[in-house]
Amino acid sequence: RSPEGLIMTISMENKLGEGSMVARPISNIVFIIAMQTEALPLVNKFELTEDPNSLFPKNVPWVRYNGKYKDLNVNIVCPGKDAILGVDSVGTVSAALLTYASIQALKPDLIINAGTAGAFKAKGASIGDVYLASDVAFHDRRIPIPVFDLYGVGLRQACCTPNVIKALNLKVGKLSTGDSLDMCPLDEASIMKNDAVIKDMEGAAVAYVADLLKVSVIFLKAVTDIVDGDKPTAEEFLQNLAAVTAALDEAATKVVDFINGKCLSEL
Ligand code: ADE
Repeated sequence: RSPEGLIMTISMENKLGEGSMVARPISNIVFIIAMQTEALPLVNKFELTEDPNSLFPKNVPWVRYNGKYKDLNVNIVCPGKDAILGVDSVGTVSAALLTYASIQALKPDLIINAGTAGAFKAKGASIGDVYLASDVAFHDRRIPIPVFDLYGVGLRQACCTPNVIKALNLKVGKLSTGDSLDMCPLDEASIMKNDAVIKDMEGAAVAYVADLLKVSVIFLKAVTDIVDGDKPTAEEFLQNLAAVTAALDEAATKVVDFINGKCLSEL
């Protein structure tokens, strides 16, 4: 190589080495999945095994499943069961902590936040639909002071994936995140302002941490309940959880099959 060529190559490599703009095939992915019911079928599908020597601090409930699937190192991390109450540690606090610890420990090329969501039939959603979120924002962080208001909303964009969307025929829509399963009128107004089709309890928190640490992230959300329907949300969610998880896992497998052998810029 000429000296100019070498300098050019080095500066390009430096650029490509920054953040998540890798020009090599994706090799290491981390799924962040809040509920065990959502995660276990995928753990089985990819034939992953639980890591007994957890990378995480001692005594935290976080769980990591790992294995090789095709050319990919696949990790599924879950926040695990609350130490006192024994239920899945859903919501933004656990999701943010787990995302941070997973990025530090596993250095993924891509994060996939997969899970279930509520959705609006008025915006075209039905039970069992699987969405790839284009944007994510919070709907329960109201701070009515200039600029703090925007900080509260915390709008962030998902990794651009036009080829995934085209190839897998997924629905695309904006995702709004809050720490409640139900929806009070103030949350509803914020969700409408966010122009969201789907509503979850982790996405924007995962996006915040991924953005902090400059890791690309996508959001795959399957609809368990219709937020603007007649049925009580908790009842509808529990009724549809198992069946909709199957749809989520099918879509997640297709996404992973598509990702295999490709660079981020090809998604
Ligand atoms: N996950 C599944 N359904 C949900 C809803 N309605 N709100 C928030 N998260 C959800």
